[in-house]
Parts: sequence; C-alpha cells; structure tokens
Amino acid sequence: MKKLIPAYVRVPLIFFAVFAAMEYFIDSGNRPAFIKFPMVSVFLFVFLFLLIAIEITLSAVDNITYHLLTEDQKAKLNEVNSLSFQDSEWYKKLIKSLTKSEPIENEGLLLLDHDYDGIKELDNNLPPWWVYLFYAGIIFGVVYMVRYEILGADNQETELKNELAQAKIEVAEYMKTAPDMMDEKTVTLLTEPTDLAAGKEIFATNCAACHRADAGGQIGPNLTDENWILGGGIKNVFHTLVNGGRDGKGMISWKGTLKPKEMQKVASYVLSLKGSNPIDPKAPDGEVWVDETAPKK
Ligand code: HEC
Repeated sequence: MKKLIPAYVRVPLIFFAVFAAMEYFIDSGNRPAFIKFPMVSVFLFVFLFLLIAIEITLSAVDNITYHLLTEDQKAKLNEVNSLSFQDSEWYKKLIKSLTKSEPIENEGLLLLDHDYDGIKELDNNLPPWWVYLFYAGIIFGVVYMVRYEILGADNQETELKNELAQAKIEVAEYMKTAPDMMDEKTVTLLTEPTDLAAGKEIFATNCAACHRADAGGQIGPNLTDENWILGGGIKNVFHTLVNGGRDGKGMISWKGTLKPKEMQKVASYVLSLKGSNPIDPKAPDGEVWVDETAPKK
C-alpha cells in the first residue's frame, strides 16, 4: 500500500483532507476558519510539520532496515516491490473476496447435471459484491419506508416549500438592513430637500426628455396633476419606475439604469411637484387617484 501512493502525494492528500474537514466543521461565518481563528492556522502548520517529520522518519527506518537484511531477504523484498499493482497479494485477495470466483480448472466441480440440448449449467457463487449491494438495497428500502411512509418525514415538495419560506424570511431580514434594497412595499416618500434636489437632478437627466423639465408632460403624461394612469402615491410611482409603463407606450423599466435609492428619490421629487401648475400642461390622462391609506379627515 505504501508504495502505491508516494509520499509527495500522500502528505498533501492527508493535509488537505484535514484542512477541508476543519473548514467544514468549524463555523466561521463567511470567512475561512484559518483566517478567522489564527489557532487553526497554527494547528495546520504544526500538523503539516509533523506529517513531513513522520514521512522522513519512516523512510529513514526503512532505509536502515533494508541495510540490515541478508542478501536473500533483500532479493525477496525487491521482488515483492517490483510486482505490479494487480499482481500484489492484497489486491488478489481483495478481488477474490469480492467475487469468490472459482478458477476455471475447478469447472468440473460446479457443473450441474442439467443438460439442455447440450447447453450445461454452472453453479457459480453469487458474487459477494453484488450480494452486499442487494442487502444494502433492502436496508435502504426499509429505512426509507419507515422514515417517509410511517413516520411521515418531509418529502421533497415539503422540503422545497420550507426552504422557500425560510428564504423569504431571510430576504425580508436582509431588506431591513440593506439601505439600497427597496421594493414597492417598503419604499417611503422622501421629503428632505437634499433628497428632492437629488431627485430633481435625476429627473432632468433621465425623464425630462419625455415628461418635460417641469413635468408638465409631452410624450409622457403630465406628472403634476391629480390624474394617474398607473396610480399615484410613492408605492405606485415606484412600481411604475421599476416595471415601466404599459407595453408599447414608451415608458421603460428603470431598474437596470437607476438604483432603488435613486428611483425613490426621483419618485419623491415627482410627487413633490403635485399642484405645481406648469404652463401649458398636457391634458390629464387616467383617473383622479385617491390615496386609500391616507388618514380620513
Ligand atoms: C421615452 C420617454 C419617457 C421617458 C424617458 C420617461 N418616461 Fe415616464 N412615461 C412615459 C410614457 C409614454 C408614460 C405613459 C405610460 C403608460 O401609459 O403606460 C410614462 C409614464 C410615467 C409615469 C406614470 C404616470 C401615470 O399617469 O401613471 C411616471 C410616474 C413616470 N412616467 C415617471 C418617469 C420618470 C421618473 C422618468 C425618469 C426616470 C421617466 N418617466 C422617463 C414616457 C417616458
């Protein structure tokens, strides 16, 4: 076995196996364990050092033992070492134990006395590798049956549903703390003059071409009146910006161009223009929009 995997493969292999195991089992958040916990690095370093030391010692011992051997023994050892992988004793034993195959010379012992028009039958052993697989299959079947059919563990569909529900909770959790993530449910109207000024700038760059610099309307509708095609109020306007207007009308979705924060600012700016009565506005489109969530007077 030792000869099969040379030391320069064995040492890295063992080292990385242990390294991977440590990373897997030590909970270190989103940073690798060996960075977060310096002790892990120290341990790995010492471990690597010991591995190399052991290899060196072993090979030294081998060397010395070899020199103590008689000529006869040396010859024998060389012979064993020069055998190829498939000729090695343990490999032969392994194959024998997995197949229990009888050598062809013993065929006579296995021959049954059936004779079907000259076709004869051998009574061979079932290969143990196959039999073990079969037993493993039975055990798996029993465990599966008990777990899912009797104890009622979650099936794949329930598992998926649970995971999706969990993901939703996590997304909501994330939205709370990430300031630049916003959707039409969480968006709020901004009233700070600095935010509105930033909104005005965004409007002048991106929107004025169609809605006119004073938002009185041109290709796009008048945004300063009470009438809205797609709904007024911060949530609807934000929704329009994210998703665009009705197909083919010319109002694109802005989510690829503007960040959520920017859309919030420009939407708030647009809403701040309500009743600004620009000169020569476009005729009202849509319905008069009433905010149903507003406190009743
Ligand atoms: C290419 C021209 C164009 C540009 C640029 C444009 N819009 Fe529009 N916008 C339109 C048109 C056309 C509509 C009407 C859509 C519909 O009828 O569905 C519209 C509709 C809207 C609405 C809904 C109005 C309502 O009555 O419901 C809002 C709000 C709006 N635009 C804001 C903006 C903002 C803010 C920008 C800049 C980020 C912008 N638009 C850029 C053409 C444009």
